[in-house]
Amino acid sequence: MDPDYQAKVAMSAQMVRSSASDTALVAAAAKFPTAVWLDRIAAIDGAKATGGAMGLVDHLNAALTQQKAAAVGGVLQPFTIQFVVYDLPDRDCAALASNGELLSANDGLKRYKTEYIDRIAEILARPAYASLRIVTVIEPDSYPNMLTNVGVGKTACDTVNTKGVYVEGIRYTLNKLSTLKNVYMYLDIAHSGWLGWDNNRAKAITGFKDLIKGATTSGSLGIIRGFATNTANYTPLDEPYFDGTDDVVSTGGTTQFYEWNRAVDELTFVDKLRTEFVAAGFPQTLSFIIDTSRNGWGGAKRPTAKAADVDDMRIDRRAHRGNWCNVKDTGIGERPRAAPDSKRTYIDAFAFVKPPGDSDGTSDSSATSPNADGKRFDPMCGSTNVDALSGAPHAGSWFHNQFMMLLRNASPSLTGQSLSINKTTSKKVK
Ligand code: BGC
Repeated sequence: MDPDYQAKVAMSAQMVRSSASDTALVAAAAKFPTAVWLDRIAAIDGAKATGGAMGLVDHLNAALTQQKAAAVGGVLQPFTIQFVVYDLPDRDCAALASNGELLSANDGLKRYKTEYIDRIAEILARPAYASLRIVTVIEPDSYPNMLTNVGVGKTACDTVNTKGVYVEGIRYTLNKLSTLKNVYMYLDIAHSGWLGWDNNRAKAITGFKDLIKGATTSGSLGIIRGFATNTANYTPLDEPYFDGTDDVVSTGGTTQFYEWNRAVDELTFVDKLRTEFVAAGFPQTLSFIIDTSRNGWGGAKRPTAKAADVDDMRIDRRAHRGNWCNVKDTGIGERPRAAPDSKRTYIDAFAFVKPPGDSDGTSDSSATSPNADGKRFDPMCGSTNVDALSGAPHAGSWFHNQFMMLLRNASPSLTGQSLSINKTTSKKVK
C-alpha cells in the first residue's frame, strides 16, 4: 500500500468524519493497494524531506518494510509493488488533460532516456530490492494513440508518429527494464471501447509485435509479461446481461452504444487479445492485468435485469463509450487481487492502477495553458460533456467528491466486506 495514497484518503476521512457510514467506506479505501505513477522526472526523487511526495526509493523502501511485516515465520513472502511509467515526450497526444513536461522539440526524448528511464532502471536494479516483484505499467494511451489517432486530425499524434517519438521511447524503456529479472512489464493496451473492434485489434497485434521486436537485439516477444487494459478507464469487466451479438452491437437498432464493437466488456477484450497474440507468435506466458479501480458501476442507476433494449440493461451508463474524464455514476470495481479468475489463468491480476480519487483532468474551462506539469483543460472534462463531474481539479490531484462517489457506488459493495487482497470477495465473472 502506498503511504502517499493513504495520506490522501486520510484527508477525505477528515472531511466525512461526521458520517459513520462514509467513515467506514473511507476506512476501507485506506487498505487499497494502488499503483504509483512516475508521472514526471521529479517524481523519481520526490520531496519527502520537505513534506512533499515520496520518491521511488522511498516507495521501494516502504514496500520492503511492508514485506517484512507480512513475513510468515520469518520467511519473506512474494510482495508486489506497482509503478506506472508515464513521461513520454509530447505525452497524451490525442487529448490535453495530461500533456506532460517533456517536449520532443526541446530534446525531450534524450531527457526521457537519460534523466528518467536510466534513473528508474538504476534504482530498480539495486540488490536491496531483489525480493520485490516490481510491476510496471508502461506509458498508458501512448501506443494505442499511434494505432488509431494518426491521420485523423490530431496533429500532436501525427508529429509524434512521424518523428517516431513514442516508438523510440517505449523501445528504450522495454530494452532497459528487460534486463531486470524482478521487473514485470505490462504495456498499456487501452480498453475494449477503444481497441475492441476487429480491425483495431488486428492493428494492435501487428503494431505491438513490431514495437516489441524492435526493442532488443534478440527481437524476443517474451520480454514483456503482458498487457494492461482499462488503465484509468471505466469500462466494465463484464456486462452481465448480454454478449456482443448482432442485436446488441448493431448501429441500426435501438442503440448506437457499441457501434459494431463486439468486445462489449474487458473480459471479452482480453479473451480475444490473448488468443490473437498467441496465434501471432507471442509466448503462452503472455498475461494481462485489468484496472478495476473505477469500473464497478454500482449505485442506483445500475440495471438489475435483462431488458429488451440494450441501453436499459448495460451497466456502463456512459452516454458515449469514449468518455474518459471523471465519469459520473461510476464506482470502485473488483478488489485488486492476483489470479482472480480460475478459468482465465492468463489474467495475472485485477489491479487499482488509477488511484481512485485522483482526478482525470480539470473541469475549469479557463485553464487553457499548461501548468508546470503540462496539465490543462480538455473539453472532455468540461460542462459540455454530460458524463463529466464538475468541480474537478487537474489530472492526478485529489478529487474528494469523486472519491466518495466511487466508494458509495462500489460494486461489489464495500460495506461489510473483507478487503484482503488474497480473498475472493467477488461476483462470478462469465
Ligand atoms: C495524470 C498523472 C497522475 C495519474 C494518476 C494522470 O491522468 O496525468 O499526473 O499521476 O493520472 O492519477
